[in-house]
Amino acid sequence: MTGRPKRHAATRYPQSRALRDKAHRLIPGGCHTNAKGDDQFPEEAPGFIARGSGCHVWDVDGNEFIEYGMGLRAVTLGHAYGPVVAAAAAEMQNGSNFNRPAAIEVTCAERLLECLPNHDCVKFTKDGSAATSAALKLARAHTSRAKVAICLDHPFFASEDWFIGTTAVNAGVPQAIRDLTVGFRYNDLDGLRALFAAHPREIAAVILEPARNEEPHPGYLAGLQELCRREGAVLILDEMITGFRWDVAGAQHVYGITPDLSTFGKALANGFALSALVGRRDLMELGGLHHDKERVFLLSTTHGAETHALAAGIATMHEYRTKPVIETLYARGDRLREGVDRHIRDLGLAPCFSVTGRSCSLQFNTSGPDGQPSQAYRTLFLQEMLARGILAPSFVVSYTHGTADIDATIDAAGAALKVYRAALADGIERYLEGRPVKPVYRRYN
Ligand SMILES: Cc1ncc(COP(=O)(O)O)c(C=O)c1O
Repeated sequence: MTGRPKRHAATRYPQSRALRDKAHRLIPGGCHTNAKGDDQFPEEAPGFIARGSGCHVWDVDGNEFIEYGMGLRAVTLGHAYGPVVAAAAAEMQNGSNFNRPAAIEVTCAERLLECLPNHDCVKFTKDGSAATSAALKLARAHTSRAKVAICLDHPFFASEDWFIGTTAVNAGVPQAIRDLTVGFRYNDLDGLRALFAAHPREIAAVILEPARNEEPHPGYLAGLQELCRREGAVLILDEMITGFRWDVAGAQHVYGITPDLSTFGKALANGFALSALVGRRDLMELGGLHHDKERVFLLSTTHGAETHALAAGIATMHEYRTKPVIETLYARGDRLREGVDRHIRDLGLAPCFSVTGRSCSLQFNTSGPDGQPSQAYRTLFLQEMLARGILAPSFVVSYTHGTADIDATIDAAGAALKVYRAALADGIERYLEGRPVKPVYRRYN
């Protein structure tokens, strides 16, 4: 097979290109979330989005795409989802921030705890990172211990020093802080046992996602909980991704485990800035007014309970509880996986390209001819999907992905994978237009 000439794509994104230069002059990184950055996408990609509706977005050049992942997995119901936008807009008319709490803070707390009946209390905030960091602070105050144990197979817990200090981008994080975070592997109870033994009575908390791409082995989460109890450490499940996706009651409900604390965000308000720390009363109340223990300064910020974000959260939870949102996420994911798997089989692409994860949270994996994970091949697949109107850093679906959107994506993937196969045979240089994407966690540009 011979390579086809590369496209000369310079004309598809002129407005994005112009705006990109300005953005990088004004904003370090050109944007406010690393995962949205230019280095995460092919050079010829929509640089800036003008608007979204359902699972469709339009860039500043007027190009239309079917999007996956959508707001870093936050927009689970779809962009500009009517009932959520209407609830937020109506609340805005009443004012968004006062000197005393708004009544909607209590309503939203009630609604969330109805979804999560095993938890007693909730504290809302704006970002997932603030919620996970607050969970660690509570655990440290409760146990009078300093160290925290994080799951090394889960890629992100917070933009704060306690986590970023463990990555390659740890500039600016003092060694003293890095020394306080230790790591363990998912599905490896013996490893965690050894970690507790290496740091006796020093670990305040164990934090992990209930699951990521890998499902928990039978008994793993229960064993982990038992181990934490025995060692006196607080168990924190980070449900930022799994919450309102695996199940309305979170992955903890699916796996039958109640952690001491857990954190939610992203899908909680369909992309509006709302996250939550929930948990056991005796722990959570350390941040309250009705105890005589030492006080914990827990999640107190100016914008923490912005009323329209809470209204968006209430409306989002209502949609989840009254419509088949979760079932639809799984059904659309099943359809997409089956269709793409068919192309992978027909083209003989396994194991270089695969689709993995729960149907409600699919990702694709790209390897080169040597079988090693490859950023260049990831870039090629992104490039070929973009050329066919699909903006898909993952295959994470939303409630508004219709079957026609899924089928269009399967067709595009079939065509993109033909190019992928040709590149495996002929060499990727013939097909890749521009530089490959780069890992987020890297020390230098
Ligand atoms: C599992 C997990 N925890 C925490 C966070 C941090 O959330 P945020 O970016 O809202 O601070 C993320 C964000 O991607 C996440 O995926």
